[in-house]
Amino acid sequence: VSPIKAAASAKNMRFGTAFFTGDTYLDNAYLGLMQEHCNVAVSENEHKWGDIRRNPPPEYRWQNGDTLVLWAQQNMIDYRFHVLLWEVEERYPDWFASYNWGTNEAAEAERLLTDHIETVARRSPSDFYSWDVVNEAVDNTSGAYRETPFSRRLGGMENVVELAFRTARAELPTAQLVYNDFMSWNSWSENHRTGVLRLLENMLAKGVPIDALGLQSHVWGPRSGGEEATWRAFLKEVTDMGLELTITELDIEDQQLSADIETRDQEIADTTKAYLEACFEFDQLRDVLCWGLVHRYSWLQTFQQRADGLQKRGLPFADDYRPTLMAEAI
Ligand code: XIL
Repeated sequence: VSPIKAAASAKNMRFGTAFFTGDTYLDNAYLGLMQEHCNVAVSENEHKWGDIRRNPPPEYRWQNGDTLVLWAQQNMIDYRFHVLLWEVEERYPDWFASYNWGTNEAAEAERLLTDHIETVARRSPSDFYSWDVVNEAVDNTSGAYRETPFSRRLGGMENVVELAFRTARAELPTAQLVYNDFMSWNSWSENHRTGVLRLLENMLAKGVPIDALGLQSHVWGPRSGGEEATWRAFLKEVTDMGLELTITELDIEDQQLSADIETRDQEIADTTKAYLEACFEFDQLRDVLCWGLVHRYSWLQTFQQRADGLQKRGLPFADDYRPTLMAEAI
């Protein structure tokens, strides 16, 4: 397969992947695929609170993120930041459970959140062009706002999102500020899409500086057939609000696809092609990032398993680093 980044550049787009300090960073062949195919990269976990803030304040841990960013810089690969705030309770570091919030919990929550955003933004290279500011504030199934240690203390999720974006904008005047969520044309529900639209509408009405919606794009196969129309209508609503789009975590969840590898790879490629074609109708979309390049390092291997126990294949390169039909499709 020819370099995917070249195909992307021809459309004035970028292509990239997540990588992480464990296996992928230690695998020269994986890094070789990144050099060949990617002009943008993102840390899979190393910029999350779970890593940077693994230990209670005042400690910030920079080493893992720095390792990845330095490699990208040396290879002239752009970077996007994932993520300043992941609004899922289980994703908060353990120390939150016993944190001393003092007598004014709202003030302390505001201080903790703004301190994190300011410190991380000031410490980061100024050329990070795109930032996931808030991730997954809306429940996948109900579409309601989630409840988290911050939302409970700051008077609800909308206040958290507003505070996070306003703080980020003050530090990052020109970067693309992204609200990122677990969405694609079939992950997860109509309720979820409605909830995300409501959040974006309410934020923009208040002048909150959100530039783009991040479409994680953990796409489920098989398709039921009606996805294109619903998805186009959704993307039109988003872009009509004046927002840009970015595909931040593309992979194909193949647990319900065929067992036979040739058949399955074709199904994955067909899904990828149809999904990207629908998204590419919107020229507000400039980036496509996969959530990994090689099957064995994919989070999908452990997220949920196939009933037959076979390895999942919803990324563009096989374990021998050869491109699959999905790479061709992209
Ligand atoms: C996942 C990582 O891939 C895993 O290694 C980690 O254990 C959990 O998080 N949505 C996101 C990503 O925004 O941060 C998640 O990444 C996958 C779903």
